[in-house]
Amino acid sequence: MDSLNIRKIGVAGCGLMGSGIVEVTAAASYEVTVLEANPEILEKGKKMVEGSLAMAIRRGKLSEEDRQTITGRIKYTLQMEDFSDCGLVIEAVTENMELKKQIFAGLDKVCREDAILATNTSCLSVIDIASATGRMDKVLGLHFFNPVPAMKLLEIVKTIATSDETVEMSRAFGQSIGKSVVMAPDIPGFIVNRLLMPFFLEAIRLMESGQASREDIDRAVMLGLNHPMGPLKLADFVGLDTACFISEAMYKEMSDARFAPPILLKKMVTARRYGRKTGRGFYNYS
Ligand code: 3HC
Repeated sequence: MDSLNIRKIGVAGCGLMGSGIVEVTAAASYEVTVLEANPEILEKGKKMVEGSLAMAIRRGKLSEEDRQTITGRIKYTLQMEDFSDCGLVIEAVTENMELKKQIFAGLDKVCREDAILATNTSCLSVIDIASATGRMDKVLGLHFFNPVPAMKLLEIVKTIATSDETVEMSRAFGQSIGKSVVMAPDIPGFIVNRLLMPFFLEAIRLMESGQASREDIDRAVMLGLNHPMGPLKLADFVGLDTACFISEAMYKEMSDARFAPPILLKKMVTARRYGRKTGRGFYNYS
């Protein structure tokens, strides 16, 4: 079997990550069905996909003809049953274990017996999510990075129950959409967030201690390590609510103080200073 068995993709959840996944899979010639919980959120997701395609045209990366072809491959729905002919479904909903388990239990019922079910979770246990299904061998993590069209990496998270065939088909799928694939363990944060979170949290603690300014921390990392963004700007970009959630989830799993959210981060989240998405985080975007 190879990824050619997967011609139709389902994407559950069309927020920041889901919409990016929809765009890259449709651009790679897959037929994509997108599921959202209600008409308003579905419309918002559609606008995100269309907005990103419009930006690609403005940047000279996409022709109007290709935009139309890509858009024509995407079908929006409120019915999970519309995933019944998909070979792969990627879930990209809010980071909530109960919600993800509910969705996976539903997918298990409506999807083809041979369909692969993937989660884009950034930190939750993939085997826990898989346990809601009767096909744990066909469940794995496919962790994308933001902005999905620009970031080349795809982490494949194999649980103790995922079959080698599922991994190989997913690897072929990842390569077919132009991503570089790495195998990541089913541990909190996988590879990237396992390394990124202590980096974010230490930058926040350094700023919180008053020993270095946010601008100097970011400039030091950009110029000293050649990163495209410093850690505080990147935390704003990822979303401080998301960063705080990942930090809490990792701390809960590992009881390791390195992953505990700093007080400043918790206060920023309480004040809804989530970063770019709310116009204010460590920096002001309004
Ligand atoms: N959609 C598509 N492409 C985009 C894009 C978007 N939203 N934003 C930027 N790009 C592309 C541009 O088209 C351009 O492509 P080119 O080099 O082929 O011409 C390239 O990215 C650079 O874009 P710009 O010159 O406009 O802007 P920058 O140089 O400032 O780059 C950036 C923007 C790509 C966001 C860059 O700052 C960057 O890489 N930042 C770090 C992003 C990062 O680390 N993401 C991972 C976060 S962690 C995560 O997602 C995991 C989760 O679980 C928390």
